[in-house]
Amino acid sequence: MKEKDEEKPNLLEYKKTHLNSLKPYIAGKSINEIAELYNLPTNSIIKLGSNENPLGSSPLAIEAINSYLNKNQFNFYPDALGQSLAKNIRQKFPEIGQAEIIIGNGMDNVLEGIARLILRKGDKTLIHIPTFEYYEIITRWAEAEPIYYQTKPSENFKINLEEFLALIKPEVKIVFLCNPNNPTGNYLTWTEIEIIIKQAKKMGSFVFLDEAYIEYLGFENSHINKVHKYDNLIIGRTFSKIYGLAALRIGWGVLPTNLINEYRKVQTPFSTNLLGLLAAEKALSDNEFIAKSLDNNKIGLTYLSNNLENLDFKVFDSQANFVAFQVSPKFKSKEFCEHLLKKGIIVRNAGLFNGAPDDLIRITIGNSEQNAKLIQSLLI
Ligand SMILES: Cc1ncc(COP(=O)(O)O)c(C=O)c1O
Repeated sequence: MKEKDEEKPNLLEYKKTHLNSLKPYIAGKSINEIAELYNLPTNSIIKLGSNENPLGSSPLAIEAINSYLNKNQFNFYPDALGQSLAKNIRQKFPEIGQAEIIIGNGMDNVLEGIARLILRKGDKTLIHIPTFEYYEIITRWAEAEPIYYQTKPSENFKINLEEFLALIKPEVKIVFLCNPNNPTGNYLTWTEIEIIIKQAKKMGSFVFLDEAYIEYLGFENSHINKVHKYDNLIIGRTFSKIYGLAALRIGWGVLPTNLINEYRKVQTPFSTNLLGLLAAEKALSDNEFIAKSLDNNKIGLTYLSNNLENLDFKVFDSQANFVAFQVSPKFKSKEFCEHLLKKGIIVRNAGLFNGAPDDLIRITIGNSEQNAKLIQSLLI
């Protein structure tokens, strides 16, 4: 029997209107997508769009996965809290001291847990833009609302502390700081971060300090050693970048002790995976791979920055594994990306980031051959 329309539950009305203003996260293009679109062999494609490690993955991590595969055992859940990995992280970074280590399915999943823990309907978050767009997504999910602080290319995307501090009001529950910042590559000093943390504390806000790229600025520049001193500071880290394990989705965070019991109540159970956990443990102490990756990045970042500048682009100083630059008046960013895509090179149209100038491009530092090909493709 055909139901009358009026009797059906109106699913559209149920639609979550707080998501109306949200756009889905735009991921960098994949190799398969581009191979198909431009009819190119997959092995000819150079992927410099998602800030992955161009040297591959830590060989020690790969070895650990391969030897586990021989066991043929995937019937048991992994350790729900990633305790063995957390123990290894604590051994490598004893400066974490009296703070807690949390493990997640990428830092994205750590961010989700933090949003569940802290944000309520009607709360505000403070986000400097342009930056990593997931902060806005998790804010809106929680029916909270972002307050944006707009940084400017003419000021190298630097945060003006006085202006920024004025936006930290009692209704702001999380201040997101991305350090170094994606997509611009600039960074905040500890002096600046500490001033923000103190002001946030006065207003009853937490600071989420995203250190996805901190290793490129120097391991010693991480502030995981400060979390035990500031009970409103939370730090996010990842195995997706310097350790080369983006596909295995392991991230971690450092949380003040007073939050851990509540965090455990809201975190996704079993969000990680066994192979990722095993690989991350090994990658953590693969000093040779880390050193090679840092070396490659340093050389490539200088090479790309200099050559892009010689091509008359406005290049921004970067302390990460990518470099951002403006392509106008020569190009529009969409044209620029398409020109490279046709040659099998994937870069990121950072003009699509909220608050970014529309001619901004972000390129991940590749290996020397990839970097040279990229520059050659721009000479024609
Ligand atoms: C600034 C920033 N934070 C967090 C992430 C997410 O990292 P993960 O792969 O660990 O989820 C990314 C990924 O590109 C990022 O750029």
